[in-house]
This record gives sequence, C-alpha cells and structure tokens, in this order.
Amino acid sequence: MTADTIAAPRSPRAAVRRKGPNLEKAGWLYMRISGLALIILIFGHLFVNLMVGDGIHGIDFAFVAGKFASPFWQWWDVLMLWLALIHGANGMRTIVNDYVTHAKIRRVLVWALWLSAGFLIVLGTLVVFTFDPCLGLTEDSVAWLQEVCA
Ligand code: HEM
Repeated sequence: MTADTIAAPRSPRAAVRRKGPNLEKAGWLYMRISGLALIILIFGHLFVNLMVGDGIHGIDFAFVAGKFASPFWQWWDVLMLWLALIHGANGMRTIVNDYVTHAKIRRVLVWALWLSAGFLIVLGTLVVFTFDPCLGLTEDSVAWLQEVCA
C-alpha cells in the first residue's frame, strides 16, 4: 500500500463565520476589559468605604447621601453597576450555553439573564441619579437631615 492509495484524512470543517459583527469575540474581549476595570472600581469602592476615615463604622445613611451628592461617586458607582451586571450576565450566558443542552430552555434562560440585568441596570441607574435624601424626611428623621432639608 502506498501513500496515494490511503484515503485522505477528512479535511477539517471550515470555520463557520457568519456575516456581521463577531459578537462572541466582542463578548470575549468585554470580559477581559471589564474585568480589568472592575478590579480598580471594586477595590477602590471597598477601600474608600471600609478603610478610609472611620471605615466600616462610618457607613450610614449620611455616608451614602454624601457619596451620592458627588457626580464623581455617582459615575463611579454607575460604571461599576453597568460593567459588573453586563459582565455577570455575559459570564452566566457562557455557563448556560455550556451546560444547558435543551435549545428552548437555553434560549429562555439567556433571555431571562439579559432581562434581569437590564432591569437592574435601569433601576440602579435611576436610584443613583435621582437619589434625594430629603424624600425620606419624616418627623423622626435625625436633626442634621431636618436641617439640611429645611
Ligand atoms: C475583580 C473583578 C473581576 C475580574 C478581574 C473578572 C474577570 C473575569 C474573566 C477574565 C472572565 C472570563 C473567564 C473565561 O472566559 O474563562 C470572567 C468570567 C466570569 N465572571 Fe468575572 N471578573 C470580575 C468580577 C466579576 C463580578 C463582579 C461578577 C458578577 C457580577 C463576575 C461574574 C463572572 C461570571 C459569571 C463569569 C463566567 C465564568 C465562566 O465562564 O465559567 N465577575 N471574569
């Protein structure tokens, strides 16, 4: 038997490349880039909230109200919210795609992931940008809040 009588090995299947943007590649890149940004955002958040000043003992309504009064911390928190939720949802999408073999259940779960992430992003963004400490003002509120809102 000579080499030319041996059946050619099966040629590898050509990679399927659909037209349009490569969303899987974008998702892969997003996980890495958002991961790097999240290291700075999350550890910055933990450092400022837990280590600076009175640390964890200083966290109360006034602390949160003070942070949300500053556009810098509003954008810090919103960026963390958006990046982490999209990162988490996309990561869970990968896991669902890997483990859920039933096509219909897979589609429902992936839709549920994006819907819940979208809902939380809208809700969280509204909370950060519309936060008003005076809306919670009652007769029992602490004196400083009554003074600020007077
Ligand atoms: C310190 C910040 C973070 C870094 C550096 C980071 C980095 C990464 C990277 C590089 C991947 C891709 C792994 C792969 O494709 O094999 C990944 C996957 C994932 N991340 Fe993060 N991440 C961070 C924070 C988060 C947060 C806050 C969440 C949740 C909201 C999260 C949830 C996930 C999930 C669910 C996956 C998919 C895991 C898998 O494919 O097995 N990560 N992360």
